[in-house]
Amino acid sequence: MMETDLTIVILAAGLGTRMKSAKAKVLHRAGGKTLIEHVVDTALELTSPERIFVVVGHQADQVRQTLSSRGVQSIKQRDQKGTGHALMEGREALSGLPGLLMVLYGDGPLISSDTLRRLVAGHRESAATATVLTTLLDDPTGYGRVLKDPDGRVLAIVEQKAATPDQLLVKEINSGIYCFAAAEFWEHVGRIEPNNPAREYYLTDIVEIFGKSGHVVRAMRIDDAAEVLGINNRVELAQVDRLFRSRKVEALMLAGVTVERPETVTIDCGVQIGMDSVIEPFARILGSTTIGEECTIGACAIVQNSRLGRAVQVGPFTIIQDSRLDDEAHAGPYSRLRMGAHVEAGAHVGNFVELKKTRLGAQSKAMHLAYLGDSDIGQGVNIGAGTITCNYDGAKKHATRIGDGAFVGSNSTLVAPIEIGSGAYLGAGSVITKAVPPDALGLGRAHQVNKEDWARRRRKVTQAGK
Ligand code: UD1
Ligand code: CA
Repeated sequence: MMETDLTIVILAAGLGTRMKSAKAKVLHRAGGKTLIEHVVDTALELTSPERIFVVVGHQADQVRQTLSSRGVQSIKQRDQKGTGHALMEGREALSGLPGLLMVLYGDGPLISSDTLRRLVAGHRESAATATVLTTLLDDPTGYGRVLKDPDGRVLAIVEQKAATPDQLLVKEINSGIYCFAAAEFWEHVGRIEPNNPAREYYLTDIVEIFGKSGHVVRAMRIDDAAEVLGINNRVELAQVDRLFRSRKVEALMLAGVTVERPETVTIDCGVQIGMDSVIEPFARILGSTTIGEECTIGACAIVQNSRLGRAVQVGPFTIIQDSRLDDEAHAGPYSRLRMGAHVEAGAHVGNFVELKKTRLGAQSKAMHLAYLGDSDIGQGVNIGAGTITCNYDGAKKHATRIGDGAFVGSNSTLVAPIEIGSGAYLGAGSVITKAVPPDALGLGRAHQVNKEDWARRRRKVTQAGK
């Protein structure tokens, strides 16, 4: 369900010094997506992309680029003078938008759309000017503490650095997520001042400003503290990554996927897997991969941005990237498929076989030790062990075409560009440099010579010489 009249601002301009990285914090990944993508995707469940604004600063172009397909807006914050300043920079773009203003932080990717909907609903019901999402933490170190009066009104949020010893004992923390009445927000935000040791404009100061001008600020406390974990360093990044992974794996298992030793597999948020598929330990399934029903992904296999049909078998230690396997295809163990490889229905790719930009037609087989690059291979073809397509002459790549039903003998060397007609047969060990017509035998190797008695005579000579 979408909210009407809701604007969402996501603060994502900071570098995140504690990440110790040249990369802006929100571009780090957890669960297979950047932190900012997680937050934007959650926001998109509540409101339309025209009303989602990402405040960018550090690596603004990369952040915008990452989000380009989602159609959300951005606001540039040139100098990062604090969370309050980030919003002030958006005044021009935002202050004309009526209704509610929600603020999210780009470094808090675990927040759910359900919780945000409850925040909006709670805010509307209470008639408060602002509602702060809070939670209780056993160890609140580093977070802003929420100070309330006995009636539960929020009086102030004090940052760790500015808090008195008594205030530091408060375990209710500011998540960094708020819902404001937009008009009142824009009326008051200009009064935030950088009167703290960091000389930053703290958005949190607006709570006191509201209080002083008679506006009520409420807190909505949630039980699941994990939802509002903010990531500040790589230890927290790894914790959040683990959480995303276990959520994903649990959702898959509940939808009918068998995952063996689920704590060992890595499955990105965007992956889809059909019912009765089996994922073996230590598999990594990444990016926008789609896997059909009744497939098996073997132990330690990696499947990235690829599409697998129904009942596809991927053996252990197989790597599949940007490729496609149709129904009942097999790959592995120890195969490598990349750059648009396409294994058609029922075809087999075996151990130590690499396919690059290559179609392997239905029911064809390349079972052992082969390199097939820039090739179009028909149906029912047998590729013998050790077959190599010589697709690269040092300057250019060239194509190989192999017709339906051809038989390529073991250890064939196919010097591209080359065409092997359908039904043709290549003798083992051939170096093929000229086209082979359909149904012909292609032989390109030295003729074998047997010299009778040669070995025995040689032995006699060498023994005599002793
Ligand atoms: C902030 C809150 C704190 C809260 C905590 C929750 C303030 C002053 N404090 O602290 O009360 O408990 O989050 O995680 O708001 N950002 C900008 N521009 C800036 C500064 C920050 O866009 O000029 C962005 C950052 O990129 C980040 C987010 O705002 O995504 C939060 O900033 P951060 O510096 O991590 O705030 P905290 O110190 O964690
Ligand atoms: Ca933070």
